[in-house]
Amino acid sequence: MHYLDHAATTDLRPEAAEEWLRVAGETGNASSTHAAGQRARRILEESRERIAGVLDAEPIEIVLTSGGTESVNLALQGLWRARDAGRERIVLPDGEHHATLDTVAALAASGAGVRPVPIDPTGRIPVAAFADALSGGDGSRPGAAALATALVANNEVGTLNDAPALSQAAAAAGVPLHLDAVAALGHVPVSFRTWRGAANPGSGLVALSVAGHKIGAPVGTGALVVARSARLAALLHGGAQQRGLRAGTQDVAGAAALAVAAERAEAERAVEAARLASLRDALVAGIRAQVPDAALLGDPDPAGRLPGNAHLLFPGAPSESLLFLLDVAGISASAGSACQAGVAEPSHVVQALGRSEQEARSVIRFSLGRTSSPADVDAVVAVIGDAYRRASGAGTAARS
Ligand SMILES: Cc1ncc(COP(=O)(O)O)c(C=O)c1O
Repeated sequence: MHYLDHAATTDLRPEAAEEWLRVAGETGNASSTHAAGQRARRILEESRERIAGVLDAEPIEIVLTSGGTESVNLALQGLWRARDAGRERIVLPDGEHHATLDTVAALAASGAGVRPVPIDPTGRIPVAAFADALSGGDGSRPGAAALATALVANNEVGTLNDAPALSQAAAAAGVPLHLDAVAALGHVPVSFRTWRGAANPGSGLVALSVAGHKIGAPVGTGALVVARSARLAALLHGGAQQRGLRAGTQDVAGAAALAVAAERAEAERAVEAARLASLRDALVAGIRAQVPDAALLGDPDPAGRLPGNAHLLFPGAPSESLLFLLDVAGISASAGSACQAGVAEPSHVVQALGRSEQEARSVIRFSLGRTSSPADVDAVVAVIGDAYRRASGAGTAARS
């Protein structure tokens, strides 16, 4: 099998799996005061320190969660519930992940105003437009926003945003900012402290989401970095664990596995990013040699996109047909869009780049990761020309 969907989820790292099993075999609740509990507590707090080390945050700022969706929900709903009186608007760039879109939609249904920020044709959030949205009301809701959110890296087209500049803009406007670093971690540097800078308490970057399964930790692990000074309401009640922000018995084995995976991913990042970028470039060149009409979406500058992301538009070829033909050839890729009841939705990200609905139904995201090799690239290049002709109907027409 040729797996080119590492952005959906990537292989569990053997060292993380080993650590997970080892710690899961230990007895003890990290909140218990007896020796077994204290042993669990020690493993948990050491893991928290190691995760904080990778994200360049303080250990106390790490709130362990079940993954990206929970982290995003805790950040957005938590910041909204704790907002200053009179602040009624959420700044939401176009092209965000559904974890964000759907959470903001739920808040909007209960009264929040939403100020969208169009992204540019490469998928990047323009910092000036973002800054404008933070402070310039929207008519019905004047004044500064209650909160803002943004992707560090777009999970579909791979475009990187200027995280420090977005944080500075939020700090200047006195608005708390959440960054979704789920797609970015392990591929580009992520530094909570540096990006937050000398922000005022409660504004600028205050929360940052990551997910374990995108970096080789088990599914069901993740974290939200929450600045000490952030005002955030808990969504789960029932205990004082994790600063009272996430009640419930803590997953010590998950934390230990996440710590191992995060440290490994960070240690390998620079070398791995260069390796993946060169595989990605070979993949794009190989596809375009077979399908000259295929267009790379996102930032054409390799430095402006995730190293393992190749997102292409195949004009006139429905994503489902291409994905089916690739799957039959043993290749797993994705359209990068939600699939409901077997019908692929046109990608909202591709439409936000200014592309038509039909174009947004004709895209494939190939995403490379730790286990990717030149054989995966060769496999795609070998079948993509035929798959494109068949999917776009040209092959059928030529034969009939
Ligand atoms: C950018 C981004 N945010 C959030 C999520 C949700 O993360 P999880 O699958 O861990 O819930 C994903 C998952 O694909 C993602 O890519």
